[in-house]
Amino acid sequence: MSINTVGVIGAGQMGNGIAHVFALAGYDVVMNDIDQAALDAALSLIDGNLERQVSRDKISKEDAQATMDRISTTLVLADLGKTDLVIEAATERESVKAKIFEDLVPHLEPHTILTSNTSSISITRLASRTDRPEKFMGFHFMNPVPVMQLVELIRGIATDDETYQQLKDVVDRLGKTSATAEDFPAFIVNRILMPMINEAVYTLYEGVGSVASIDSAMKLGTNHPMGPLELADFIGLDTCLAIMNVLHEGLADTKYRPCPLLTKYVEAGWLGRKSERGFYDYRQDPPVPTR
Ligand code: CAA
Repeated sequence: MSINTVGVIGAGQMGNGIAHVFALAGYDVVMNDIDQAALDAALSLIDGNLERQVSRDKISKEDAQATMDRISTTLVLADLGKTDLVIEAATERESVKAKIFEDLVPHLEPHTILTSNTSSISITRLASRTDRPEKFMGFHFMNPVPVMQLVELIRGIATDDETYQQLKDVVDRLGKTSATAEDFPAFIVNRILMPMINEAVYTLYEGVGSVASIDSAMKLGTNHPMGPLELADFIGLDTCLAIMNVLHEGLADTKYRPCPLLTKYVEAGWLGRKSERGFYDYRQDPPVPTR
């Protein structure tokens, strides 16, 4: 069964990037959200990001237009039922994802592959809430999706070989590279990245360094494109905290306990770039460290 149409659930940071790269690779994309304003904002973001690729001679103007023409939006989850592949990229909360799958499953074609872009939640557990654990996989894109080369592929305990191979082929058609991870908390990228970010927040919390010195040290000392605190703001501090909690609870090891300062920022609603304040204050240009 070939994959030609793709449904994307969630029009946020990850969902709009995923819709962008699939439409650019020639797939017909239906993007769903519960909020029309979020769908409108996603379309205008995709348009702007395609424009950026045109201005850097990465793609032609015609490609950008054809990409936009291949994306449609809907507030009705059931409209995704006819697609060949569904990618869930909603909020990183298990109850939200489980409810989406429960509502979607009755409308799906028998052949449809179901995936989640979850960055840490058990694929086997999510799959068990659907009618097709053998056609269910973790399909984890990195942010910003149009730029990052990697897609993590996570097989649940029941995922069949055909589904895995089909998704591997999809990653190739997107022009990206896959890395396969076993289904354990936070998989590969976040199992390694999040404890580093959490340790950077501890370094700040204990007064070892300021925001500026921690980020400079890691950018210039280890050639990372962003410092860990700048990267945490970019990912979203609520997402970082949610992933640390999954590691802490899933592996039952105190080395994964989230830093209290990370929790405090999230409780304040200082979630990073998306709320204009996190370890930096983005209401000023250039952004100013908040500690
Ligand atoms: N869409 C399309 N193109 C984009 C883009 C977007 N959203 N954002 C950036 N670009 C392009 C730019 O056009 C530019 O293209 P050229 O190389 O052709 O000039 C290129 O990306 C670099 O962008 P900029 O020059 O604007 O900025 P930069 O050099 O500072 O790079 C960055 C920005 C790519 C984000 C870089 O800072 C970076 O790689 N940061 C680290 C990102 C990272 O680690 N992501 C993974 C996070 S973890 C994750 O996602 C997993 C999870 O579950 C939490």
